[in-house]
Amino acid sequence: MKIIGISASPRKNQSTCCMLEQCLDEVKLAADASGKSIDVETIDLVDLKIHGCISCDACKKGLICSQDDDFRQLIPKLADPEVLGIIVASPVYMGCMSSQAKAFIDRSVLFRRNGFMFRNKLGGAIAVGGSRNGGQELTIQAIHAGMMIHDMIIVGDGDHFGGAAWGKHPDGYKADSTGITTARNLGKRMVEIAKMMQL
Ligand SMILES: Cc1cc2nc3c(=O)[nH]c(=O)nc-3n(C[C@H](O)[C@H](O)[C@H](O)COP(=O)(O)O)c2cc1C
Repeated sequence: MKIIGISASPRKNQSTCCMLEQCLDEVKLAADASGKSIDVETIDLVDLKIHGCISCDACKKGLICSQDDDFRQLIPKLADPEVLGIIVASPVYMGCMSSQAKAFIDRSVLFRRNGFMFRNKLGGAIAVGGSRNGGQELTIQAIHAGMMIHDMIIVGDGDHFGGAAWGKHPDGYKADSTGITTARNLGKRMVEIAKMMQL
């Protein structure tokens, strides 16, 4: 089984990517500790060109997208029945998710239109803002909304909404222990719920 992390920052190896790594690291630790075999994989959208959905409706005729961009290579990866959960990590842009995250979520509609392929998969979200309270919770909820449209099972961090981190912490984002804890706890909860549901 596998949990896929989507890093939706346009900057490589920065705060969003770091928080996602923390979360996936905890997935591995928690899975190993509970004797559950879960692989993790990161898809970094910074490496891919993914346009917004153009509403051509090609995906109503099958698991296909008319747009010839890098989303196509993600289709078999995300359609793999071994995927038990997806975690989307986004920077907070103007109080909500990045355009990279939104394009990814909009384009994922093809999985919904072809038999609700994400139904009952676990979904979690991480948001990293430049301010401590710059819209992380709204961003997480917006990502959750997309996941609910897929009829996924939303997982929080066991306390609040998910991973909520401060990218411009005065000592650097790696010093944001509060944010890192929420990201790691999200990973832990994903494994707990997977185990409980025998996924
Ligand atoms: C266009 C733009 C809009 C932003 N809007 C917000 C915002 O509304 N709230 C906030 O807390 N930070 C905002 N930020 C700051 C980023 O969320 C923050 O720097 C984040 O850590 C960037 O993630 P990264 O390090 O992965 O690139 C914005 C940054 C940019 C470039």
